[in-house]
Amino acid sequence: MRVSDTADLWWKNAVLYCLDVETYMDWDDDGTGDFPGLVQRLDHLVDLGVTCLWLMPFYPTAERDDGYDITDFYGVDPRLGTHGDVVELIRTAHDRGLRVIVDLVVNHTSDQHPWFKESRRSTDNPYRDWYVWRSDTPPDTSDQVVFPDQEDSIWELDEKTGEYYLHQFYKTQPDLNVTNPLVRDEIAKIVGFWTQLGIDGFRMDAVPFLLDTAGTSTAEADRLPDPHAYLRDIRAFLDRRTNGGILLGEVNLPFDEQLEFYGGTDGDELTMQFDFIGMQATYLSLARGDAGPLARALTGRPATAPESQWATFVRNHDELTLDKLTEDERQEVFAAFGPEPEMQIYDRGLIRRLPPMLGGDPRRIRLVYSLLFSLPGTPTIFYGEEIGMGEQLSVGSRLAVRTPMQWTSGTNGGFSRARASRLPGPVVTGGYGPEFVNVADQRKDPDSLLTFFRLLIARRKECPELGWGSFEVLDQPHTAVLAHLCSWDDGALLALHNLGAEPVVVPVALDGCGAEHLLADLLVEGTTALDERGRAEVPLEGYGFRWLRVVAPGTRRLL
Ligand code: NOJ
Repeated sequence: MRVSDTADLWWKNAVLYCLDVETYMDWDDDGTGDFPGLVQRLDHLVDLGVTCLWLMPFYPTAERDDGYDITDFYGVDPRLGTHGDVVELIRTAHDRGLRVIVDLVVNHTSDQHPWFKESRRSTDNPYRDWYVWRSDTPPDTSDQVVFPDQEDSIWELDEKTGEYYLHQFYKTQPDLNVTNPLVRDEIAKIVGFWTQLGIDGFRMDAVPFLLDTAGTSTAEADRLPDPHAYLRDIRAFLDRRTNGGILLGEVNLPFDEQLEFYGGTDGDELTMQFDFIGMQATYLSLARGDAGPLARALTGRPATAPESQWATFVRNHDELTLDKLTEDERQEVFAAFGPEPEMQIYDRGLIRRLPPMLGGDPRRIRLVYSLLFSLPGTPTIFYGEEIGMGEQLSVGSRLAVRTPMQWTSGTNGGFSRARASRLPGPVVTGGYGPEFVNVADQRKDPDSLLTFFRLLIARRKECPELGWGSFEVLDQPHTAVLAHLCSWDDGALLALHNLGAEPVVVPVALDGCGAEHLLADLLVEGTTALDERGRAEVPLEGYGFRWLRVVAPGTRRLL
């Protein structure tokens, strides 16, 4: 049996779907999404074809960072449900063949967490050392803050004891001190707790911040001796407790540093990492109508262990960060996709969803998702992308893209029957509102974006070479075109994407192929013959794309 035929290393061929229970589906009409509501919508996800859910934080929270400020790592936010509801969700998801991963946010707690309340009581409190304190005046750290609109330092003076605590994010999110073995034990217990309830892994928040204790601690001796040894420990613990549980890390760093977070080519630290570099390059390529930046990002990925995997994405719940582009490149993307100040945030990102950024042009929207699902790696989508939801800019923060899911054209987009004032945030208004963009209408429409997503996902699942294979960018003469080939085992997929508005004809030449081979379109009907030297001329519309399976003589694959 080949490994692609089993669930082993399932993440290599997965399709991930991120959602926040709070904004997905309200089943008890109190205005807040809940676990029973999500359970009711699992069949939408099965129908779509995704294979793994990533649940954003659903723990008790002080709600200063949309759930990323946790007050009890073992609890469930009572507005969303109970432990019983979580277990029902996991059980029902597994029954439908869906895996479930959950956010692990242990770089920090809420300042309302009982551990921090204890910690700040006195310098000799038993919990004092669970956080990072310093008594001397901190240096200027204004260049290190993550949220420059709210913070100007990563240290906050706590009046009671006259010392400063570390907070890499908001001041309401004090950093845990992972140099303290008691904290490390507790983190292991948290991992153990949720895995015991049946989850399939974690999306690990802010990994570099969690591990980086250098330069933030007052005493050299307090630093983690080897941060990566600690990450290896967490992974080993997860491996012991689960069968194929994953750590999908948020590590927005250059590729060479990301490689370290995989554990180099040993692959014994993070199982997966988001490809932030590829995501940012995609937008630069789109802005320019030039596939070059994306091609360079993809070929610039370091070699990893076969088990390690990139998670590809074009949008997530945060700002569309452009922090790894140069200032000029960033301005190009801003000019193309978010020229107004209210679309931008922290001078580095956009608080928009994809369709409005592309002016609602269905050709370009489909082009981008065709790319996403045909690039090497594991595609990750954010709820609402499958129907082309827009953002609500009036929210004025990262929450602009976290509006309620749009199920129907009815009140509150079918998300809740409660009064609008009780919802977690506004439903999108205007041209991307539920009247125009919703699941109910699109599920029966053969030409809808949702139907297109289903097709992309179904075809992708038939092409394990996309998740598993070797990847190469093929030479061809058009700067606007990305031609890439993914090959693995006896399968090969040639994908062509034209990022420009002009139609082109792409000459392709496939090594080792001859006139007995064919190129079979996977997204539309059609085949293209190759000549005796494996060559063909493939036409593409402006913003056109093709997925072409390289078919060997006598194939038994369904085409
Ligand atoms: C990264 C999360 O994606 C973001 O939403 C959050 O604000 C920070 N980490 C802090 O937890």
